[in-house]
Amino acid sequence: MRHQQLADLLAQMTLDEKIGQLTQVSGDFFSDDAEERTGPMTQLGIADEELANVGTVLNIAGAAQCRRIQIAAMQRHRLHIPTMFMSDVIHGYETIFPIPLALGSSWSPAAAQRMAKVAACESSVAGLSLTFSPMVDLVRDPRWGRVMESTGEDPYLNARMAEALVHGYQGDDLLHDIDRVAACVKHFAAYGAVAGGREYNTVDMSERLLRDMYLPGYRAAVAAGAKTVMTSFNTVDGVPATGNRHLFRDILRGEWGFDGVVISDFNAVRELIAHGVAEDDRAAARLAIEASVDIEMMSVCYLHSLAELVASGEVDVSLIDEAVMRVLMLKNDLGLFEHPFRGMDEARERQLIGCVEHRAEARRIADCSIVLLKNERGMLPLGCERGVESVAGSAITVALVGPLARSHDVLGAWSFKGRPQDAVSMADGMQRMAAEHGVNLLVAQQECDYFETSQAAIDEAVELSHRAGTVVLALGETSAMTGEASSRTNIALPQAQIELFNAVKAANAHVVVVVFNGRPLDLGAIGDAEAIVEAWFPGSEAGSAVADVLYGAVNPSGRLSMSFPQNVGQVPVYYNAESTGRPYEGAPGEKYVSKYLDASNYARYPFGFGLSYSSFVYGAPSVSSATFDAEHALDITVAVTNDSDIAGTETVQCYVRDRVGQVVRPVKQLKGFEQIELAAHETRTVHFSLRESDVRYVHADLGERSDPGAFDIMVGPNSRDLSTPLCVTLV
Ligand code: NOJ
Repeated sequence: MRHQQLADLLAQMTLDEKIGQLTQVSGDFFSDDAEERTGPMTQLGIADEELANVGTVLNIAGAAQCRRIQIAAMQRHRLHIPTMFMSDVIHGYETIFPIPLALGSSWSPAAAQRMAKVAACESSVAGLSLTFSPMVDLVRDPRWGRVMESTGEDPYLNARMAEALVHGYQGDDLLHDIDRVAACVKHFAAYGAVAGGREYNTVDMSERLLRDMYLPGYRAAVAAGAKTVMTSFNTVDGVPATGNRHLFRDILRGEWGFDGVVISDFNAVRELIAHGVAEDDRAAARLAIEASVDIEMMSVCYLHSLAELVASGEVDVSLIDEAVMRVLMLKNDLGLFEHPFRGMDEARERQLIGCVEHRAEARRIADCSIVLLKNERGMLPLGCERGVESVAGSAITVALVGPLARSHDVLGAWSFKGRPQDAVSMADGMQRMAAEHGVNLLVAQQECDYFETSQAAIDEAVELSHRAGTVVLALGETSAMTGEASSRTNIALPQAQIELFNAVKAANAHVVVVVFNGRPLDLGAIGDAEAIVEAWFPGSEAGSAVADVLYGAVNPSGRLSMSFPQNVGQVPVYYNAESTGRPYEGAPGEKYVSKYLDASNYARYPFGFGLSYSSFVYGAPSVSSATFDAEHALDITVAVTNDSDIAGTETVQCYVRDRVGQVVRPVKQLKGFEQIELAAHETRTVHFSLRESDVRYVHADLGERSDPGAFDIMVGPNSRDLSTPLCVTLV
């Protein structure tokens, strides 16, 4: 439809029909089963006849279901406006990919884009037109359960991932490419900074910090063309985001030119009352519509109050018209007026969802998300010569024990239609590939609980450890320990698992710990393991991907996108901290410097860190010039050599420090990275370009500009192990 036709359609709509377009309810309101329907509807306070005008539906999927609801919706609507289905396809629809924090650890925007493309395809054939992803909240606190949905602590990496995800979901032509869906950037804004990492808590930060560190991810996603933006549950400087005009009208729409749909988070409009900024539904509706929130998700303040607010003159109908127009335009951009069933297709659904190609992609992406944190004495890959016991010819014996050894709880939270039973467990993955890698695998059979390990499970683990050359101990969190409403104050492994580790370690010195988790953990208690593999929640192909890495079929290439603390008391610990007046240099005996008495300031595993089976050697970086300016970028060059017999992938990272700013600057900031594949003993030269615009930052007056003067440039394999700074001058 042309814009004029949409305007004509809007002109024909009654006020109630308009308000209906601004209301979103969940799929169970359309169930065939009257009882299933009435419960949630009564709870929300919505009558059957009010459903006729409702504009969008959330968290339902399946081509047959969506088709049935679409037919009914269009029949019931006086103007036959199609509805639209939106859901939380966060890291895959049914084929589940690694959780976003793991995806961040791939440091591969290309992988993120491929993941989003598959997720979009499975979603679209199942009837969805929009996914509530990407979540680009920057997080510095691993206590927050939703850290698993984020790509990490860095604005630059988050922005690259956000763009890639938007492109992957939406493609280049949403109207004609029906295997794509619209993206929804969330949660605007700064939800990742809830105080103390406690879910739904207050966010209080300066607008300068907000703009400098927290907003770039959302901005990149918007610039990449994301169709919609979701509000966050938190307050920002005392004003809940869902009623925050400054965030939405001034920044998002005014400064960034976003003209797409803003949708509230679940019940967040009504929560303005609990926040204490609105006294009732009516006041909440007014705040939200004035802030330019177009769709109210799962509360009915708009439905029940907007008409009265218009009648009393408190809300101008033009606010409603502009919101409705944006919703109609979104539907139009997706082609729903001409093709209300869009991609939904029962036959293709059966053929595509969970197909072999999608599973293969999930395995490739899980392969590159796994981070090797420790590998002493060449413990890994398994099956290599280490003089361990030999059983059955040349095979080595490996014991696989621990709560995650046979568990299918490997998908992680927010795995939409993923079924744990379809996921490859570690035992299955390792067993399938054991023979070809010369491994005789002993898998523990006793039930091994995450929180209360039975004596029988410990005895069996110890017995297998005695019989094996190497023990693979699979530990971690359950999926339910991260995700929404899953904040924790203790981020160590459960005590029972630590006891299991100690028992196994006493029986066999060669322990490889594989950790499954949704947040950076305090891994201090397993520090003695000879090898540690961070698997995250790898998704449907978990066991295969972990086996790929353990056996060396895949050379690990993941790099942490978030620092792992020494202990919870260090939190938040992040690499791009601001300089202090009394910097800590790590020397013993320093007292009056910014530090703790009982722990260092440094992370246990820093941002950007990850090992490989190859070893990479960095040459000294060089710069094309000692100065740069607005017209002339700097070329930074570094030679990297694979000094090993194994081909591998290295992520070369470039950090910059602004030595003197008008505002205190971070001690270093990631400004570029390049992933290179190096054959055995190959050397390659990597180039980074640094422009004046790359070193702009938000000043005290909220203006974004650079400060002329000295900058240090550092290159290396992670945020800690960097080259000696090269000083250049911005003129
Ligand atoms: C609440 C969550 O905060 C949000 O991320 C999600 O998209 C909505 N619920 C819809 O399920």
